[in-house]
Amino acid sequence: MAYYRQIGSVPPKRHTQHRTPDGGLYYEELMGEEGFSSDSSLLYHRHIPSAIVDSTVWELPDQSTTPNHPLKPRHLKLHELFAADAAAATDVVTGRRLILGNADVRISYVVAAEASPLYRNSIGDEMVYLESGSATVETVFGSLNVRQGDYVLIPRATTHRWVPDGEVRAYAIEANSHIVPPKRYLSKFGQLLENAPFCERDLHGPTDPLLTEGTDVEVLVKHRGSTGIVGTRMTYANHPFDVVGWDGCLYPYTFNISDYEPITGRVHQPPPAHQAFEGAGFVICNFVPRKVDYHPLSIPVPYYHSNVDSDEIMFYVGGDYEARKGSGIGQGSISIHPGGHAHGPQPGAYERSIGAEFFDELAVMVDTFRPLELGEGALACEDSEYAWTWAGRGPAQ
Ligand SMILES: [Fe+2]
Repeated sequence: MAYYRQIGSVPPKRHTQHRTPDGGLYYEELMGEEGFSSDSSLLYHRHIPSAIVDSTVWELPDQSTTPNHPLKPRHLKLHELFAADAAAATDVVTGRRLILGNADVRISYVVAAEASPLYRNSIGDEMVYLESGSATVETVFGSLNVRQGDYVLIPRATTHRWVPDGEVRAYAIEANSHIVPPKRYLSKFGQLLENAPFCERDLHGPTDPLLTEGTDVEVLVKHRGSTGIVGTRMTYANHPFDVVGWDGCLYPYTFNISDYEPITGRVHQPPPAHQAFEGAGFVICNFVPRKVDYHPLSIPVPYYHSNVDSDEIMFYVGGDYEARKGSGIGQGSISIHPGGHAHGPQPGAYERSIGAEFFDELAVMVDTFRPLELGEGALACEDSEYAWTWAGRGPAQ
């Protein structure tokens, strides 16, 4: 989903001659979803966009996963994953370490300061949340300025690269589908409705073409293989950033979590009230600083809940998370509360929250409908005692 934009030079009529200043032709490319039956954009290239001169294997970092078995809630400390000096030699694309994954979505984390290679994900859309720092994301549609708290939506098969301004921390949600706002936020023609927690003004797309000249330019492509996710290095005859103009409803954009307007109530509002986006088999929700429940007898922290159909993943990115006090969870933590097992506030938090008027918390939640498995990054930074924190003790010795 996105609304119509037009950038740079496009001909007045689609699929007609668009001439360069010296009389040649620009090459029109339709980038469209679901065949030719959903959102699309038309891009006008200086060079033939399919012209490649080489294709070799790109060995991806470890993509293996381990089931959450024996089943238990888990706490991961993402800030322990990268050594203090690692960012200087790491980029946002090739440095990602896989945290969680299933057949619908993969979540990775990276601390990086290097410019990334050119890259595109041909498996699905990416939603990358910038936990800290700032960067430019250069794309075939133009550049995006990215700051702390931004979600960056990169549509499937968009060639791009990340250029950080110093160190950034990025949380990459890679779908096997498209990532869109929930249908209930949209009019029948796709406009964000008055009751949606954000609107089109909060989505920031490219504003100008990004023209780069070059020959024999390498692009890393993530795509599907018979054994799962694989990578290929494609070498293009000319630099892919050769688009003089484009128009349409398919393009990358940023959305800052501080522009998400929370929906509150007299009693506790469930996670769907915090939803921002969804893909096939998962949702993305924002827990932002907000006034909390104002019924005179309300209990502001969540009730215990057994989300029987989903795994619930919270990434704590700011503030103070009231319901998790005493569990060891802090900024940079992930909690995994799997389907089939109840969870809720830590001991004492339920009673302590009575009378609270405001929660200063910031978290990004991903709920999946298939179980999530643990990537090598999760196994490397787990706090193995978290599961026992509600009881106050682990197994009897
Ligand atoms: Fe929950």
